[in-house]
Amino acid sequence: MKLRRADWDAATKVIPDGVQTMSKMPNRYVDGVYPTFIESGDGPYVIDPGGVKYVDYPLGLGTILLGHNNRIVKAYMQQQMNVGILYPLPCRKERVLAEEIMKIIPSMEMVRFVKTGSESCSAAVRIARAATGREHIVACGYHGWHDWYAASCDRNKGVPKCLQSLITKCDYNDIEGFKKAITDKTAAVIMEPYMFDAPQNNFLEEVEKLTHEKGAILIFDETITALRSKHGTAQMMFNVKSDLTVFGKAMGNGMPISCVGGKKELMQELEDKPNGCFVSSTFGGEMISIAAALGVLKVYGEGNVPERIWGTGEQIKKFFNQTALQMKLDAKCVGYPCRTRFDFPTAAHKSLFWQECLRKGVLFGHAQFVSSAHDVTAINITQDAINHGMTVLRQYWEKPEDALDGEVTVETLRQKETHELRVETTHKRTGAKGKAMAADLSGVASDNT
Ligand SMILES: Cc1ncc(COP(=O)(O)O)c(C=O)c1O
Repeated sequence: MKLRRADWDAATKVIPDGVQTMSKMPNRYVDGVYPTFIESGDGPYVIDPGGVKYVDYPLGLGTILLGHNNRIVKAYMQQQMNVGILYPLPCRKERVLAEEIMKIIPSMEMVRFVKTGSESCSAAVRIARAATGREHIVACGYHGWHDWYAASCDRNKGVPKCLQSLITKCDYNDIEGFKKAITDKTAAVIMEPYMFDAPQNNFLEEVEKLTHEKGAILIFDETITALRSKHGTAQMMFNVKSDLTVFGKAMGNGMPISCVGGKKELMQELEDKPNGCFVSSTFGGEMISIAAALGVLKVYGEGNVPERIWGTGEQIKKFFNQTALQMKLDAKCVGYPCRTRFDFPTAAHKSLFWQECLRKGVLFGHAQFVSSAHDVTAINITQDAINHGMTVLRQYWEKPEDALDGEVTVETLRQKETHELRVETTHKRTGAKGKAMAADLSGVASDNT
């Protein structure tokens, strides 16, 4: 513990908050109990500096689709490393990757590669503004840290205030709210096609229809859902179509690569012309990530990846909910099997459950992903951990803080911005042992991504 603290103190002296992504801050887990650092990853596991191995569910914030160090992806990357990383002219593999992506999602007729979800969302928004000559954006979901979107967040210091009038947020499944938000000044609607809730009353079809009636561009932000959804993407799963689509996270199995793609006439906005619009990035043609993505799509094309992921996710979800029911606990695993969330009455309940699961070798976070490397052994470890976690939780249900050896977790910016954390139950927290920044999960509390 002392070593952990010393390392952490040293990190926070040279890196703001010690992290590159706010959702990796210790207070997003159970600070004092969880490892602060991870040293390596292997298949479905991550290993901390002390050599302790955990079944990994945050999975690189949703990037690790095929497990850590997938053999085939690694081989593609290694082959590329032998022949260079970044060239002065394009490489033919960029075209091959674009063609492979278009096989997954036929609505993409052209593709531009960038590095992050924030970048590809910004690129999509810029294309839509260029194509429509309009500026206003309607957003539903989380779309990264760039100014156009951050203007709509509470944490927007440093973002020009003038951008606030150019974006309106709406809630998922709130079609009446959406109708108020969209106008004939709307350039684009950008939306995560699903998060945890299922679309209701033809929400996606209605959004598609209304967006086009207003002459706006529909962008599906599939940063999370691409390659994890049944049939490859959310739009294939729900049989709806966007004009532009954003891929990210899982595309490189941890390597930094994302893309925006869509209708040819929209994507052609990016072609070089006087007074045109541009998205141009030095590292957009970085070949190790492109090779990694080709490796991902090779495995993806051969291995029923979404089916395997959904099967595993469903198994864990069912086990969690059945165990909660048997033990008469007010706890629920919600969401589609490829990305689930545990709902508890308070953050303290959730933290105690996480703490006990960690002690049994399972690292849970605010959202659970699964990888195709999560095998029977990993699932068995997970089920044992859930059983143990709930047994302890049962015992300390009235006062979970009494058994908590660390701090109560706080929610992430993503959760706050997308209202992901809605809990139906109305239990009250009954005290606080740790300093408990105590995001009471029945409301919107803390922030950060
Ligand atoms: C749906 C969605 N869009 C965009 C982003 C931003 O991606 P990045 O963090 O790679 O910039 C995220 C990140 O979590 C996301 O979940």
